[in-house]
Amino acid sequence: MLLHIPNILTREQVATMRAAIDAAQWVDGRTTAGNQGVLVKRNRQLPENSAVALEQGRIILQALAANGQFFSAALPARTMPPLFNRYAEAGNETYGTHVDGAARRVPGSDLWLRTDVSSTLFLCDPEDYDGGELVVEDTYGTHEVKLPAGDLILYPSTSLHRVEPVTRGERVCSFFWTQSMVRDTAKRSLLFEIDQAITSLRTKHGETAEALSLTGHYHNLLRMWAET
Ligand code: NI
Repeated sequence: MLLHIPNILTREQVATMRAAIDAAQWVDGRTTAGNQGVLVKRNRQLPENSAVALEQGRIILQALAANGQFFSAALPARTMPPLFNRYAEAGNETYGTHVDGAARRVPGSDLWLRTDVSSTLFLCDPEDYDGGELVVEDTYGTHEVKLPAGDLILYPSTSLHRVEPVTRGERVCSFFWTQSMVRDTAKRSLLFEIDQAITSLRTKHGETAEALSLTGHYHNLLRMWAET
């Protein structure tokens, strides 16, 4: 399941974030790639331990915590500190087809996080650059994604994906991984769809015995499948 969640950040928040990160020191993006990714990755990132990345990442985590759609779709157990990347026209920066590593060490700790859900939060607008589409291959086919600044795309970390070469301007995004309480993508999607249907039922008909019963089943399924 790919899910577009609009307005994770406001335009003002994006502008403030861009001013902070644009002024920071960027490094070669290959520092966080695995053996396969390193061969196809050509971009720049803020270092994982950079003060600016940690500070701006916290703002993103706060915005996610306040977003009901993100919670419902990702069912997050924990989320890695967000990273930041940029792809420039100079050098036609790109990240070829790859798969995200299944486990990542949480910076500054001995903990490992299983990557179940990948997210890309756009910090630039589609008009700012040509190319740079995020292309995700999942069981339903191939999807091209390019979203307005402040919007987020969420996709299963199990999918093959790439960022097409940027041929004009610059693409600036944040990206991060979430370990979900429900590791299986199909089960997670099913829970999300049930939750959406219940919300829509309540909007149309108010509280009913049926909506209440379905809410009970939703939570019992989540209880059955959740691991934290
Ligand atoms: Ni990736």
